[in-house]
Amino acid sequence: MRHLLGTPQLSRDEAIQILDTAAQMAATQEREIRKLPTLRGKTVVNLFFEDSTRTRISFEAAAKRLSADVINFAAKGSSVSKGESLKDTALTLQAMGADAVVIRHWASGAAQQLAEAGWMHGHVVNAGDGTHQHPTQALLDAFTARRHLVADPDGKGLDGLKVGIVGDILHSRVARSNVSLLTTLGAEVVFVAPPTLVPVGIEGWPVTVHHALDEAIEAHELDALMMLRVQRERMTGGGSAFFPSPEEYTRLFGLDADRMGRLPEHAIIMHPGPMNRGLEISAEAADSPRSVIVEQVANGVAVRMAVLYLLLAGEESAE
Ligand code: CP
Repeated sequence: MRHLLGTPQLSRDEAIQILDTAAQMAATQEREIRKLPTLRGKTVVNLFFEDSTRTRISFEAAAKRLSADVINFAAKGSSVSKGESLKDTALTLQAMGADAVVIRHWASGAAQQLAEAGWMHGHVVNAGDGTHQHPTQALLDAFTARRHLVADPDGKGLDGLKVGIVGDILHSRVARSNVSLLTTLGAEVVFVAPPTLVPVGIEGWPVTVHHALDEAIEAHELDALMMLRVQRERMTGGGSAFFPSPEEYTRLFGLDADRMGRLPEHAIIMHPGPMNRGLEISAEAADSPRSVIVEQVANGVAVRMAVLYLLLAGEESAE
């Protein structure tokens, strides 16, 4: 694996290798071995053109726990605000000796452009590009689901599991990344969304689609229910107006205690965060014992350690 740009590029074996490596990383953290020497001498640059809490901080924690040097770059406060291009930003980072660049960008395809344009030699990890892909989010989701729902998970996929993904599919790179990864790992995916928040061409995706959450809960024995954030900041064009109203959305698609009670007893509740509490998920559901939302965040560090380790360990440094 040279770069991690999206989940469609991952084979089943590669995905399982990342999950198994993440399990080893998680075990070191659980044994309170806070730092491994593996990436000493490597430099990881976090290049964030869009806001982030979880992804940025967990990539930084992951790189530091592997003893890499970390440079954090946020577009706000940088020369990007003076009009500097992605190319010139990349050339600058290359000159500083970046072995890997973790990029979040508002433009779909930005990570791929950085990887393929030849502006820099380092590995590129997509930390979320527009509405396109967020591969490490899907990997940490799969890791979390596997830990809860698969007995003796090492070496295994998610065969036979059924995962519901609910809400703003249209704007969701998390949904796109999850569909590819979950199906590669053998799970079945059920989408639940209003028709206005479903992408054009959904008929070609390997998913079943419902337009009300009650209907999906009734029709499927879901093992996991992943609630998506309603991304109001991306709803600027006429074609992506937020419809139905927030109240109607919560009534038809929100997860509350009553709906949660109608899921199979073993089913887990997931959310990539940040959450709109009271819109797509009630506080009662988010904070319930069935919610693994905080655990997803913790697992994100182990998964990102695994990705950086698999890309960078055993290579010469860029400097
Ligand atoms: N889930 C996720 O990507 O969260 P952040 O935007 O806070 O990184």
